[in-house]
Amino acid sequence: MSSKSITTPVRYTTTAKLLHWVLALALIAAIGIGLYMVSLSFSPQRLKLYNWHKWLGVSILALSLVRLGWRLANKPPALPAAMQARMPAWQHLAHHGTHHALYALFFLVPLLGWAYSSAAGFPIVFLGLVPLPDWMPVSPALAELIKPLHQWSAYALATLIVLHIAAALKHQFIDRDGLLLRMLPGPRG
Ligand code: HEM
Ligand code: HEM
Repeated sequence: MSSKSITTPVRYTTTAKLLHWVLALALIAAIGIGLYMVSLSFSPQRLKLYNWHKWLGVSILALSLVRLGWRLANKPPALPAAMQARMPAWQHLAHHGTHHALYALFFLVPLLGWAYSSAAGFPIVFLGLVPLPDWMPVSPALAELIKPLHQWSAYALATLIVLHIAAALKHQFIDRDGLLLRMLPGPRG
């Protein structure tokens, strides 16, 4: 093992860990609220949840921008050499591929939700205080076109999240290689 790999930090930065866990909770909540609210019949409760879902969604969008900026400026720690050597090529590909696809969906899903809202003629007033711009013309036909795109991209995101968590648990409990520690509190080195 080279001296470089010995000194390579093992954990993600505190900021990356904070963003990871705050966004993990926010995304799970947005998916849960989204699935629940569409099952309700028209009522003040349904309307309230739609607003919460939209506010949470645009907050996720903003935080994802911060996250992407941080991620580009701060290279994640390299996988420990022993772990890299044990992982077959497909696992390397799945590891990086899942992370890239997750990042793409962090933007695509809320942008499609916002586009749908705009096209359907329901402007977003963030926290009931700040009106956000509509960036799609109001058009029922366009709204009907975008709605399934928001739904299916959200299902794709949920599927990737399940795969991601299953992989993290496999590393922790089957491979027992300490990968999870990289995302948990503790010193970096
Ligand atoms: C909504 C749920 C989640 C999402 C969207 C998510 C997303 C991500 C992303 C994008 C990364 C890449 C690093 C980064 O840029 O932050 C990552 C890393 C990681 N996540 Fe998650 N995550 C979620 C939940 C979880 C859970 C529940 C666990 C643990 C059981 C977990 C364990 C990890 C670990 C260990 C890494 C580091 C992998 C490595 O060392 O390369 N994640 N996650
Ligand atoms: C990452 C953020 C988001 C996630 C994970 C998410 C997820 C979901 C899910 C799972 C559904 C239910 C789909 C179904 O089964 O019909 C849904 C519906 C919906 N979402 Fe989002 N969403 C997000 C962001 C947004 C944003 C930013 C907006 C608008 C500003 C939005 C507006 C809507 C609307 C209006 C519906 C209801 C569509 C209908 O009436 O069928 N979402 N979302």
